[in-house]
Amino acid sequence: MTEKVLSLKKREVVDALLQGRNGSPSDAGHAFAPVNIALCKYWGKRDSELNLPINSSLSISLDRLGAETTVTPIDSPRDRFFLNDLEVDLEDDAGRRVADYLDLLRPSPAARYRVDSHSDVPVAAGIASSASGFAALALALNDLFGWGLERRELSILARLGSGSAARSVYDGFVEWHAGQRADGMDCFAERIDAEWKDLRIALVEISDSPKPIGSRPAMARTVETSRLYSGWPRRADEDIGEIRAAISGRDIERLGAAAESNALAMHATMLDSRPPILYWKPATLAAIEKVWHLRDDGSAVYLTMDAGPNLKLVFEKTTRPQVEAAFPGARIVAPF
Ligand code: PMV
Repeated sequence: MTEKVLSLKKREVVDALLQGRNGSPSDAGHAFAPVNIALCKYWGKRDSELNLPINSSLSISLDRLGAETTVTPIDSPRDRFFLNDLEVDLEDDAGRRVADYLDLLRPSPAARYRVDSHSDVPVAAGIASSASGFAALALALNDLFGWGLERRELSILARLGSGSAARSVYDGFVEWHAGQRADGMDCFAERIDAEWKDLRIALVEISDSPKPIGSRPAMARTVETSRLYSGWPRRADEDIGEIRAAISGRDIERLGAAAESNALAMHATMLDSRPPILYWKPATLAAIEKVWHLRDDGSAVYLTMDAGPNLKLVFEKTTRPQVEAAFPGARIVAPF
């Protein structure tokens, strides 16, 4: 019963978005969407069905690092989903999420699709694979069906697959507005008009094994049980303002300090949950200390972390040698 009522809500949003969009379908839809790293995190939902966040967030997209997805109509009794050329069981968590998403958007109940997705980031290890994955899927479906949706609408559509996917339909710096409406029509991401040529992001992989708890249940548990969480929405608002100002001033110390502190505050709310949520491994802590030592030695390197054990480092081009020396295996990306 609850399930039916819930999916009706999502369907209403889809109907509103697609109303009057009778595009001309093509043989296949294709799209790329970048990974995005939040500098001010999204943590906690005001509506778990529509993935409406409690707080606004701000991210940076990682240029060509992301998911490339093709959707093709097939004559088959069921959908098929291939991730990096390996077929994913539709009963698995990732497979079911994709099939559920297609359910929302298929033009007739009998229509079936093959989804081929290539992602060059570890899946389910806290490197935002679901964000680029659902954004690429939404964009590929828009291409397949010829809906001609605007970016804001695509951001809303991607959000229905995974919250942070709302930000992955854009390049560069992106702000995702929490909005206030119950239907989430004011809850979309927008690109911030700023480039920062010297900015660099490093991905420090600690572990690619699946995380102990997914971001969805982890967020829900934090909102329900952490007493620290009551301070989070205001905290995130302040941080987002600070990060916006740091971006417009191209101030790496200001940006890094705000982003690092925001990520650690998010993890503090997780630790305060019952039962506690801890994504860090011993090697995570060692890497955090390494970053802090780099800073003690005068290098402007800052860290951020998502729902996983891995680190993302924020710094400028001039600091690249120090980062490479301390983290030889890290993948370094220039977002602009
Ligand atoms: O969209 P989800 O359910 O993958 O949640 C992502 C949450 C964080 O990555 C931890 C933070 C963020 O803003 O990306």
